[in-house]
Amino acid sequence: MEKPQLPAARRFVDQIRALYAQDLGPNILWSKIKDAMGPLLADPSLKKSSKTWPLTVEGAPKVKNLLFYEDPDFGFVFNATVRKANSVTSVHDHGDVWTLYGLIEGHETMYRYERSDKAPRDTGPAQLKQIGCHNIGPGDVDAVPPGSIHQEHGGPENSMAFIVRAQKAGNFKQRTYNQETGEVKLNDGPILIPHELR
Ligand SMILES: [Fe+2]
Repeated sequence: MEKPQLPAARRFVDQIRALYAQDLGPNILWSKIKDAMGPLLADPSLKKSSKTWPLTVEGAPKVKNLLFYEDPDFGFVFNATVRKANSVTSVHDHGDVWTLYGLIEGHETMYRYERSDKAPRDTGPAQLKQIGCHNIGPGDVDAVPPGSIHQEHGGPENSMAFIVRAQKAGNFKQRTYNQETGEVKLNDGPILIPHELR
């Protein structure tokens, strides 16, 4: 897949590729990618571009992502969401891959959960315990480590996020959790809509 046309996003691709080439462990790699994401999120041309992106998330269970880029060598991808104001997602994980969720505009609240059961990961029944809740705004990056269970709540206005994932959705299973029944469902993640980033 071609690199994005937007210069700040091209630079970010090059930085991530250079970091991958250093063979860092995943924790250090993703913390360095997170640091490198700051200038991209602050870039005026990215902000301008994001205003033209279509709405992708209107609440559970209809979740889509824009797909800007998939790296041919390392497999990481650039996605985006435009989240409808006040929408609430399912409780879910992003499978066993890293995600960096960087807010460009708007505000969101991220709820974090942990399982307190010993049932099988993919079938449950899961018992969930809330372990955190934090607000993010423009320029903030929410790092979601492999398997981390969470729920996103949209703020009072639509919000736009730029996302880096270690792999393209569809190549691995993700999980949604029913808090009342403990039911765990496997899924292929968001529907991907190829979109030019320029
Ligand atoms: Fe999520």
